[in-house]
Formats: sequence, C-alpha cells, structure tokens
Amino acid sequence: MTIKDQTAAARAISVPAGLVFRKPTRQDGYSIYKLIKQCPPLDLNSTYTYLLLSEHFADSCIIAELDNEIVGYISAYIHPDKNDVLFVWQVAVHSKARGYGLGTTMLQELFKRSSMANIRFVETTVGPENKASRKMFARFAEGFGASVKEREYFESDLFGPQNHEDENLLRIGPVGETHAA
Ligand SMILES: CC(C)(COP(=O)(O)OP(=O)(O)OC[C@H]1O[C@@H](n2cnc3c(N)ncnc32)[C@H](O)[C@@H]1OP(=O)(O)O)[C@@H](O)C(=O)NCCC(=O)NCCS
Repeated sequence: MTIKDQTAAARAISVPAGLVFRKPTRQDGYSIYKLIKQCPPLDLNSTYTYLLLSEHFADSCIIAELDNEIVGYISAYIHPDKNDVLFVWQVAVHSKARGYGLGTTMLQELFKRSSMANIRFVETTVGPENKASRKMFARFAEGFGASVKEREYFESDLFGPQNHEDENLLRIGPVGETHAA
C-alpha cells in the first residue's frame, strides 16, 4: 500500500493509538445500529440491515474499535453491475473520535484488503451540506491522486414525503494504481 506520503503521514500521526480495524461480524449488528443512531444526518436503518451487511458484506465493510467500543464504521459493497466500483453506503465516526482522520483512515484500511484488488473507483452519495463527508472523500481521493466527479443521483422527491435532501453521486478514481498486492 503506497497511499501518498502526505496524507498517510498526516493520518498516522492523528489517529488515536490502540485503534483496531476489523471486519464486522453478526455480533456487531446492534452496536452498529446504536453508532449510526448517534451520527446524524445518516439515515438510521434497521438492526436487521446491519446484521445482513455484517453477515453478507463483511469483506467490504469495516469497523474501528477503541477499548472494545465501536467508534467507526463503514458499510460498502462491490457494485453488482460494475465489479471495479466500490459503493460506499454509510461512513460513521462517533463524535468523540472525529477530527483525527479516522473516516479517511478507515477508507484507506479497507483498501489494503485483497478483496479490493480489482476496485478502480469509489462511488458514494452525499448531501449538499455535508461538509465533513465531502472533505473526507476529497482527502481520500487526494491520497490516490484521484479526481472526484459529482453528478445528480437521487433527487429529494424520490424519498417520498420525508423531506430528505438530494443525494448527489461522487465518483472517485482511478484508485487502482496504489492498491496493495
Ligand atoms: C463524516 C465523518 C465520518 C468524518 O469523520 P472524521 O473521522 O472526523 O473525518 P476525518 O478526520 O477523516 O476528516 C477528513 C477531513 O474532513 C474535515 N472535517 C471533518 N469534520 C468536518 C466538519 N464538520 N466540517 C468541515 N470539515 C470537516 C477534516 O478537517 C479533514 O480535513 P483536513 O484533513 O483538511 O483537516 C464524521 O463527521 C461523521 O460520522 N459524521 C456524521 C455521519 C456522516 O455525515 N457520514 C458521512 C456520510 S456517508
């Protein structure tokens, strides 16, 4: 893994010592639910959703644990129609662990896995006002020297009457050149 020096160095210094990065298991489903509940503006899905993600998509999801407490989580899956695209669904960092580069570091840790060897692009959706999320993905892209393209994706009316914001699609890439073997 040769994430560019500048980003790697900055993140390595910042992230708290003692963090453990690992794949989720079915035992994590409810803890993930509780973390997401504390991380607006993320949509809170059912515990069942997090159980399924942990059971079926563990290879593309990641947990960050500190003193046996889950403080960070990413759900993601390989796009069913594009096997070189990782779609990142939710990124959550507990408020007490924010600002240390943990979100960016979890994305980088995910990309160390052999299961990511064919991935060349990351896609995700972001709300118009989510500055933290946009900055985090920009940082991640920067680490690979990749560009970030944005286009409309899920317009607010698709969400029905719940007053949900638009979700624009960010496409980051190419990210393949710096993958781990
Ligand atoms: C978005 C989130 C995951 C970022 O986690 P994090 O570990 O604090 O992010 P990082 O420390 O890796 O930050 C990456 C960049 O974003 C910046 N950033 C973080 N929070 C920010 C904020 N509220 N406003 C503006 N920039 C912010 C950081 O300063 C950093 O930029 P820098 O390297 O230039 O300093 C976290 O804030 C969170 O869980 N938010 C609630 C849920 C959410 O919105 N998830 C994303 C949608 S998928």
